[in-house]
Amino acid sequence: MLVSSETMQPLQFSNKTHNNKLYIPSLGLTLVLLISLASPASSYTEQEKTSLLQFLTELSWNGGLAASWWNNTNCCKWEGITCRQDRMVAKVMLASKGLEGHILECLGNLTRLQYLNLSHNSLSGGLPLELVSSSSITVLDVSFNQLNGTLHELPSSTPAQPLQVLNISSNLFAGQFPSTTWKAMENLIALNASNNSFTGQIPTHFCSSSPSLAVLNLCFKKFSGNIPQKLGNCSKLRELRAGYNNLSGTLPDELFNTATLEHLSFRNNDLHGAIDSTRITNLKNLVTLDLGGNRFGGKIPDSIGQLKKLEEFHLDNNKFSGELPSALSNYTNLVAIDLKKNNFSGQLAKVNFSNLPNLKTLDVYFNSFTGTVPESIYSCSNLTALRVSTNKLTGQLSPRLIDLKYLTFLSLTTNSFINIANALHIL
Ligand SMILES: *[C@@H]1O[C@H](CO)[C@@H](O)[C@H](O)[C@H]1NC(C)=O
Ligand SMILES: *[C@@H]1O[C@H](CO)[C@@H](O)[C@H](O)[C@H]1NC(C)=O
Ligand SMILES: *[C@@H]1O[C@H](CO)[C@@H](O)[C@H](O)[C@H]1NC(C)=O
Ligand SMILES: *[C@@H]1O[C@H](CO)[C@@H](O)[C@H](O)[C@H]1NC(C)=O
Ligand SMILES: *[C@@H]1O[C@H](CO)[C@@H](O)[C@H](O)[C@H]1NC(C)=O
Ligand SMILES: *[C@@H]1O[C@H](CO)[C@@H](O)[C@H](O)[C@H]1NC(C)=O
Ligand SMILES: *[C@@H]1O[C@H](CO)[C@@H](O)[C@H](O)[C@H]1NC(C)=O
Ligand SMILES: *[C@@H]1O[C@H](CO)[C@@H](O)[C@H](O)[C@H]1NC(C)=O
Repeated sequence: MLVSSETMQPLQFSNKTHNNKLYIPSLGLTLVLLISLASPASSYTEQEKTSLLQFLTELSWNGGLAASWWNNTNCCKWEGITCRQDRMVAKVMLASKGLEGHILECLGNLTRLQYLNLSHNSLSGGLPLELVSSSSITVLDVSFNQLNGTLHELPSSTPAQPLQVLNISSNLFAGQFPSTTWKAMENLIALNASNNSFTGQIPTHFCSSSPSLAVLNLCFKKFSGNIPQKLGNCSKLRELRAGYNNLSGTLPDELFNTATLEHLSFRNNDLHGAIDSTRITNLKNLVTLDLGGNRFGGKIPDSIGQLKKLEEFHLDNNKFSGELPSALSNYTNLVAIDLKKNNFSGQLAKVNFSNLPNLKTLDVYFNSFTGTVPESIYSCSNLTALRVSTNKLTGQLSPRLIDLKYLTFLSLTTNSFINIANALHIL
């Protein structure tokens, strides 16, 4: 048993008395209303309080919230509650409170509620549609719970919704991912639905209906089919992550129209094709490019050197081949290069690593690189991990290896180095 009966019983009892206060002595209420015309909002705030208490009593474990809430008659002073000037509830912030049980739709009765954050609890059951289609909520975060069931569609006749941020990530939602629902979400800026078990396809009309969409995270699901061309209409998209799905086909050309993109990740899908040398240069704001774990092939085009903001570059576990473009030396912000398990060849020295002072990890494991480990690598003084194993590298490592002060992982095996013992002695 989670709640002591001492705290639960008075709560349920007092909830009933509230209903009584509201509905039975209607004559008394009318009198009170007539007398106290100075504060016409008070009956509304009583309703707000009732809705909050209803929500609380439905929880099977309230993490001690009941003690704090029941202590004060003014719900605006309750833990996790913020009111507007007119004392209507504006924010419910109950992240990480250890809450268990179901989310009651009564929170939808808080008519001025704008911000509802119930993330990092152990809430289960469904997400009431009243909350998604609330006419006041702009930010709804129920991420990291155990909510389940399907997310019901809003009817196509639903008027435009104020919702801007919806985070339902890391729950147990399953079934068909909603489609028509997004048509009403004209104000949507961020949708994080990752780490659930939705099936189906990525809805095609996201940005026709939600022109402000900036963040779309649909990772760890069971999406299949192609990447919709129409995502190219998302002119404000900054982050698009749809890794760990079952997407197939190629990257649609239209995707490269979204010059605002900063993070693009389709990691671990079944995509193929080559990186288009002219289109990729449109993505001048790209910070993360993660295409690892697909079937992409061909060479890395030289033009990729124009993506000067790139920090994370992951093309691992694909079928890329050919030499590295020397233009990679232009990525002065690069933090991670992961090219492992491809069929790259030629010399690593094509890249001047002296220009990459922020590089922390370089992984070229399992390729066909030849030549020596370039001297310029020893200028990357922030390098923490260097893996060049399983290539065709020769020569010996420089005594400058000692300059790599932060190196905690070094893998050299299955190459044709000489004097390895000497290199290890340096370390
Ligand atoms: C909340 O709204 C529902 C209908 O959506 C209604 O049945 C219920 O009585 C309301 N609760 C309060 C406390 O106003
Ligand atoms: C209840 O209120 C009193 C006085 O305002 C305070 O001392 C006490 O800590 C409160 N208890 C809880 C559980 O919030
Ligand atoms: C909800 O609260 C958590 C924990 O405080 C926070 O990390 C998260 O950013 C909040 N969500 C939103 C949408 O503000
Ligand atoms: C949920 O997603 C929103 C939008 O991306 C984000 O602002 C918020 O911090 C996320 N919540 C948590 C708990 O990470
Ligand atoms: C989306 O949710 C995932 C998992 O819940 C989290 O790791 C990620 O940071 C979130 N992204 C944003 C932009 O909120
Ligand atoms: C996915 O969700 C589960 C359940 O909420 C959580 O334990 C896990 O950490 C999440 N995984 C990621 C990658 O966010
Ligand atoms: C790797 O590339 C070389 C040419 O550089 C080629 O001969 C070889 O067949 C390729 N291996 C695979 C597995 O594609
Ligand atoms: C690499 O770049 C550094 C700094 O820009 C320069 O001094 C050096 O000559 C270059 N090395 C090669 C081999 O081009």
